[in-house]
Amino acid sequence: MAARSPGATFLGIDASNAQIAAGRSVVSALELSNIELRQQDILDFAPAEGRFDYIIAHGVYSWVPAPVREKILAIAAANLAPNGIAYVSYNAMPGSGIRLMLRDLAFFHARKITDPNGKARRARELLTTLAGPMAEDNLPHIVLFRQEFGYVERSPELYFRHDLMEEENHAFYFHEFVAAATRHQLQYVSEPSLWEILPTHLGAKARAALGKCEHWLDLEQQMDFLRFRSFRQTLLCHAAIPVRRQITAKAIKEFAFEAHFRGPAEGVDLTPGVPVKFTVDEASHFSTPQPFIKAAMQALSETPGQSIGYAALVEEASRRLPQSARAPGDKGRDEIALMNDLMQAVAAGMIEIHFAPLGPAPMVSDKPRASPLTRYQATNSDRVTNWVHAAIAMDPVPRHVIAACDGNRTIDDIFEVLLTAIADGRLSIADGAQSITDRKQLTDVLRPQISRIIADCTRLGLMG
Ligand SMILES: C[S@@+](CC[C@H](N)C(=O)[O-])C[C@H]1O[C@@H](n2cnc3c(N)ncnc32)[C@H](O)[C@@H]1O
Repeated sequence: MAARSPGATFLGIDASNAQIAAGRSVVSALELSNIELRQQDILDFAPAEGRFDYIIAHGVYSWVPAPVREKILAIAAANLAPNGIAYVSYNAMPGSGIRLMLRDLAFFHARKITDPNGKARRARELLTTLAGPMAEDNLPHIVLFRQEFGYVERSPELYFRHDLMEEENHAFYFHEFVAAATRHQLQYVSEPSLWEILPTHLGAKARAALGKCEHWLDLEQQMDFLRFRSFRQTLLCHAAIPVRRQITAKAIKEFAFEAHFRGPAEGVDLTPGVPVKFTVDEASHFSTPQPFIKAAMQALSETPGQSIGYAALVEEASRRLPQSARAPGDKGRDEIALMNDLMQAVAAGMIEIHFAPLGPAPMVSDKPRASPLTRYQATNSDRVTNWVHAAIAMDPVPRHVIAACDGNRTIDDIFEVLLTAIADGRLSIADGAQSITDRKQLTDVLRPQISRIIADCTRLGLMG
């Protein structure tokens, strides 16, 4: 965030020297002057530090004792700007209950071991051994446990030790968290994604039952049960701020939209009355016969990873639609239908909304330049962060390409950088089981990939 928003200032605290040192090495490699990382106990953070527009406590609240949890909320109350938003993530009940049962089992099994690393190793051994006989069983509790065994298997050792096997590990019902926040004169605003708080994608019967809830708290708590929710990322603000909870379709006009769906492979038929299906996955899709909606959804589906603002979307949909397909007076009706459909697609998680649109993708230049952050991440890890802070997995070839995009190299120069990496043994290109090292062959196989990779990264907002 500091790299992408040079006009903002950032302060990060953590009690761990190692974490702060790791963060500082990134800050200094990127020569950022708008961020301070400080080794400090949360308990020692002072109200005099001033007011912040955003306060983020991610992955902390569930892993600290009660006094630190209270202090996190006290900081949110004392150090939040009048219109600021605090974000606190935590493990939620009831969904975290299964994992906590496994944790009880793991701690019981390894109770005689005092060294935390040894304890974690013994626990992991047990859970891995138990996973085998449960692999095929379809008893209800085994199905639930099996997901958690998957988590154990996927977790790197260090993560497992500091997640499941951390001394402090607590999960909370949403109403418990809201009560704690209320004690600090804070109030619930929302979860970050709108679809998480709307019951739209529950079944009709469940929705009808939830409709009887008198208060948003009851509604959300009941939804957590129906969805067996295990994690929350709750946004809070000062209690005195009026929060508008009735969301009307018109509010959608303030946002930009990123599609999580694709159009039909055979193309979109804009003829009135012909239904067209837009698909997220096998389980979720939506279909519409309305030409204007079809044109708008088609435009969104063609720009994955990017977002289009409302006005631009309306303009683009109108451009795509033949005049003959629109009757006089359609314009107003079309826009109302579009607002409603966009809102429903957002509520169903098929469209992500963003506050600001990502501008048109920069042209792929002769000497492409990835952002310093992207180049740093491509050099040092197998994931890079895109413009909405999502981690994107990267294979070795794209990583080497992006790391070489410093704005001074042409595609030919980048190809030479890759050849050197291959000659040095830092990168390998294979044809089946056979490694390719011949320059001529690499020119045929690897050279054309470079422009494609740069075009993809441009589309994803990683360049420039
Ligand atoms: C699961 S990690 C999350 C780290 C980071 N916030 C993130 O999102 O990746 C929990 C972190 O909380 C820190 N922590 C635990 N208790 C703390 C305290 N009392 N004061 C400051 N940091 C603390 C630990 O050092 C650890 O780095």
